[in-house]
Amino acid sequence: MLLPSVAQRTQPCSYNPVHVLLVTRSERAPVSSSTPQHIRDLHSSLVSVCCHFIVYFRSDSVSSVVQRSRSSSSRYVQGGQYEIQYAVHDDRRKGEVVLEVVAEVTRLLINDLKVATTKHQQQRTSDTQRKGLYMDGDEPASTGNEKAPLLEGSKGSKLIAFCRRHKRIVIPVGIMILLLPLLGLLALRNHHAHAMNWTSPLVYPSPQGYGIGDWSAAYDKAHAMVGNMSLEEMNNITLGVVDTTSGCVGVSGSAPRVGFPGLCLHDAGNGVRNTDGVNAYASGIHIGASWNATLAYERAQFMGAEFKRKGVNVALGPVVGPIGRVAEGGRAFEGFGADPFLNGVLGARSVIGLQESVIASIKHFVANEQETNRNPIANDGNPILSSSSNLDDQTMHELYLAPFHDLVFAGAGCVMCSYNRINNTYGCENSKAINGLLKGELNFPGFVVSDWVAQHSGIESANAGLDMAMPTTGFWNELQLQKAVNSGALNRTRLVDMATRIIATFYQFGQDKALPLGVGMPANILLPHNYTDAKDPAAKSTLLQQALEGHVLVKNVNNALPLRKPKVLSIFGYDAIQQTSFVPNGNTFPQSWEAIGLGIQQSMGIASNAPVPDPPQTQNGTLVVGGGSGSNTPAYISTPYDAIAARAYDDGTGIFFDFVSTEPAVVSSSEACLVFINEYSSEVWDRPGLADADSDTLVNNVASACNNTIVVIHNAGIRLVDAWIDNPNITAVIFAHLPGQDAGRAVAQILYGDVSPSGRLPYTVARQASDYGNLLSPCQADGSSSPQCDFTEGVNIDYRGFLASNTTPRYEFGYGLTYSTFSYSGLQTSINATATPDDEVVPVYTNDTTNSNPDNPAIGVGGLLSLFESIGTITATIANTSPVAAAEVAQLYLQIPGGTPSNSSNPRTRVLRGFEKVLIQPNETAEVSFNLRRKDVSTWNVTRQAWVVPSGEFGVMVGKSVLDTPLTTSFTI
Ligand code: BGC
Repeated sequence: MLLPSVAQRTQPCSYNPVHVLLVTRSERAPVSSSTPQHIRDLHSSLVSVCCHFIVYFRSDSVSSVVQRSRSSSSRYVQGGQYEIQYAVHDDRRKGEVVLEVVAEVTRLLINDLKVATTKHQQQRTSDTQRKGLYMDGDEPASTGNEKAPLLEGSKGSKLIAFCRRHKRIVIPVGIMILLLPLLGLLALRNHHAHAMNWTSPLVYPSPQGYGIGDWSAAYDKAHAMVGNMSLEEMNNITLGVVDTTSGCVGVSGSAPRVGFPGLCLHDAGNGVRNTDGVNAYASGIHIGASWNATLAYERAQFMGAEFKRKGVNVALGPVVGPIGRVAEGGRAFEGFGADPFLNGVLGARSVIGLQESVIASIKHFVANEQETNRNPIANDGNPILSSSSNLDDQTMHELYLAPFHDLVFAGAGCVMCSYNRINNTYGCENSKAINGLLKGELNFPGFVVSDWVAQHSGIESANAGLDMAMPTTGFWNELQLQKAVNSGALNRTRLVDMATRIIATFYQFGQDKALPLGVGMPANILLPHNYTDAKDPAAKSTLLQQALEGHVLVKNVNNALPLRKPKVLSIFGYDAIQQTSFVPNGNTFPQSWEAIGLGIQQSMGIASNAPVPDPPQTQNGTLVVGGGSGSNTPAYISTPYDAIAARAYDDGTGIFFDFVSTEPAVVSSSEACLVFINEYSSEVWDRPGLADADSDTLVNNVASACNNTIVVIHNAGIRLVDAWIDNPNITAVIFAHLPGQDAGRAVAQILYGDVSPSGRLPYTVARQASDYGNLLSPCQADGSSSPQCDFTEGVNIDYRGFLASNTTPRYEFGYGLTYSTFSYSGLQTSINATATPDDEVVPVYTNDTTNSNPDNPAIGVGGLLSLFESIGTITATIANTSPVAAAEVAQLYLQIPGGTPSNSSNPRTRVLRGFEKVLIQPNETAEVSFNLRRKDVSTWNVTRQAWVVPSGEFGVMVGKSVLDTPLTTSFTI
């Protein structure tokens, strides 16, 4: 091990030693003789260079480490044979600098530590000084947009003593701090003058939850329980607490005296993460590609039951934001595709399925569209704030809020506010978003939880509507809420409402009868534990069906597919086989981004929330899920090679293969050459591109030697194919997305024609990256401390953007082939709706009226109930005109008159407003029927602050994709 000994100490401690404590996550115990030798070495090395650290040795995920490091720098370093992952935090409450270390240590770390130590000492000094200007325990208003009472201070004397002790540092730093706002303003004026236009309105007070609809009994019970709680208990249940006994990614405070055990919150929307005894379901993007609402429901139903058996109360999913504004966006695979309607339908069914067992936490609210600059960065003392999603009111309603609207209407019990700023105010202290939109307009009765460390203020976030801070909080953890109520700085009703919303949700979804918190998920599955098998054998058929239905066939010429008992097959590509190991490292797994073998450059990029510099798409092993908190834990991985080899046995096929070379030799008798590649994506970073050169080279090389080359891509996001798609030797291409653990079994069934592919693209594949224009890459800080992302395209993302700019895509939204052919006929509309008169009084949501929801019978869960009423149906007939059974996905697009300025100036625009997937036997027909809700024909009127049905002619288009709509008609309202 490359550690300097204590004798090699290179510099004396420049400040008073506090103490160095080295603990493992599970033990949290001081170093002792039973501590592993390498940790003890680390301990003495750290002492040798710095005396001011508390060191936690932990085998936690890098993501959580990085996330927890918001107050200062975080690093991930690789060197020699050891990997080091560490984060440095400034723990203001304890007055300590905390260093978290993951994995092993090298000299590199030691050197970095010296630098970090110095910087942190300075940072702490300046932070403390800055706190003195505000008040201890709360951040200054992060944007200047929202002002709420700050918490009372408690550590003034310590501060003064500290300043006296360090006056040589404090005074110059203090002067700099005083000058900084001025410099910041100048910088903003120069680089982002336009940003001044984007501000988030204030909406207070926070609407109080009440027993609307079927929440009535739950609220009665909550009122009874909270009525018996002290302010301290109320304060305690609003925050995450440290839990070392379970694998829950977050555990809330409890109130045992009145019978509230707390809640276990755990990831995520694609399956239970980082534990044993669970299944890996198909990812959101794969379900989006299935266009199957029933499947979405079944998936969530079985997944929810697994969470429940593991002692989870709140499943942190599904994801309907990001929606996919940015083509390279790292988390697009977690959601259902780049359309609000598709997300709304599939997300709502997911909520219903999950909530048969647990509480669903829909996320990330709202306009959380990129990973770059998702969290504030310390940046050597010049903090860079999270990126601000700047968008207008109409775009918010019609695009980003729209799926949340559907999911709240479906009954979601919890909403996770996001990392990003929305019009320059942080998501978890944005009173417009939480009070105004969510709790006001949508009349959300559940509770709002922060994304992990997304809380940036104390009273301000409480007043803006945040109800629970996760995974811990530096703002509410010392009874600040209780004290604020006592001092009058926070209205008591807000704290009561926070507690009531949490307890009402707990009762509403039967969590009072749940298993003990996280009972089936040990903190470290390498240590002895009772194995809880949460898998239900009955889930097998839906797992396979999910895997099957997300495959999208986009090219199939010369009858390349399906395969017909080939005599000789060749199989190529790193993605065809199992990874070489699948064992956890404590509580993290391969297939999570922390373990895919990133290089140092990429890792550094991750640590700063910047795009990774090199594409990490290529990895060994079949890709079944993306990375980060949206990853899951397969019980097994069925690989393409294994499944095809089983077929070879049945068919007497000879198989040649090469899973390593990018220039493999091709046996000339091969009837087909199958090439398996993938496109990786993960939370925390955005993708550096939409294709990787190595994989493209492999495909081209195989195609140059094989005239029946079939390409399968396990893609966690949009993947361009123009480097080879026109090569005539490439006869078939499948976007296989992220199928979960049955990946191989499913692709084999499709390749061999047991099942006709039935997926359709839930996003647009362009011919070239530049066709995505401004929506190709995440927006950058560009030297600003306040990164501004202006959503000036309005609602025109993905296919709407391509329509608006009249750009022809390679494969359009909704596109996908089957082994069959279909014809469409008999389009009929039966619509009964009237336009909203100009003088009609429509509900207006402003500061003072949100609390009047209980008096308004037109308002229910989800807001204005009439928006969800049916205004008629549109029907069509589809005939299967081939001898092969296959499922068709019929899609309804509407052209809504008037609408957004961008819509009305764009005659080509249309929006998805219905889809139905039907399995049709050979030469049979099926009728599809699209139910239209008032919401589907309404636009958001900014002036009236209401949904309005416009008058005029509505274009109706029904067909196979957004660009292939053989049936058209119109209706007039
Ligand atoms: C992610 C959330 C996730 C949470 C807990 C955050 O980094 O953004 O989606 O639920 O971590 O793991």
